[in-house]
Amino acid sequence: MNEAVIRLEKVTKDYPMGEMIVHALRGIDLKIAAGEFIVLLGPSGSGKTTTLNLIGGLDNITSGQVIVQGEDIAQYKDKALTRYRREKVGFVFQFFNLIPTLTARENVAFALALLDGKTRDLEKRAQELLEMVGIGDRADHFPSQLSGGEQQRVAIARSLANRPPFMLCDEPTGNLDVETGRSVLQVMRDLNRKEGTTVILVTHNTAIAPMADRVVRLHSGTIKEIGINSEPAPVSALEW
Ligand SMILES: Nc1ncnc2c1ncn2[C@@H]1O[C@H](COP(=O)(O)OP(=O)(O)O)[C@@H](O)[C@H]1O
Ligand SMILES: [Mg+2]
Repeated sequence: MNEAVIRLEKVTKDYPMGEMIVHALRGIDLKIAAGEFIVLLGPSGSGKTTTLNLIGGLDNITSGQVIVQGEDIAQYKDKALTRYRREKVGFVFQFFNLIPTLTARENVAFALALLDGKTRDLEKRAQELLEMVGIGDRADHFPSQLSGGEQQRVAIARSLANRPPFMLCDEPTGNLDVETGRSVLQVMRDLNRKEGTTVILVTHNTAIAPMADRVVRLHSGTIKEIGINSEPAPVSALEW
């Protein structure tokens, strides 16, 4: 494996809940190489979202280290963390969270405007991102005029605004039927292969695992198994 760009070392995460403590992660060790496509698989409550949020700098770890490109992001102060999230990480969630009163192109342009404050070429750059995820021809549609899969692809285009090296996807097909789900997974695979984007995709759906380079199985806050697919399955072969 190439040198790890993301390294989790003895990562724990506790959530205090009144008198109790929920041990969401109980010591995770994981190395991820640049350009890998990882599926983080596990049942509900196993710690998938927690792991992803810690890698994405959305939450603080309880103990351990999260080293990204050689830096321990747990040491980042607010400003550095915001910058990290903005420049390095693209997030895709189960719910698309598009702005209903903006077209697909405007949704992406809005994200671009928030990123750099420049208004030049916003619409053109938004269009290019939509083309990248294969829905350039839907740019003038409002979210309500798009299928779930198309909306998710707009959300992916939006998360690509900063051209992040890492894409973190939390149950991105959780709300989609098989066919539209596949179209979203194909976009992620293409980004990974063509742009070299490192993808970490969280799912409880075992049927998605064969497309990954590596499958990390979580259970009760620990890694149970890491499997390697020497020949990852094509997305078209996935069935659920
Ligand atoms: N903000 C929170 N406060 C308290 N407990 C939480 C919080 N977030 C997650 N948990 C708990 O941590 C465990 C792992 O949750 P999570 O990472 O969301 O699992 P998954 O994404 O695999 O379903 C679960 O027991 C969950 O109830
Ligand atoms: Mg989750």
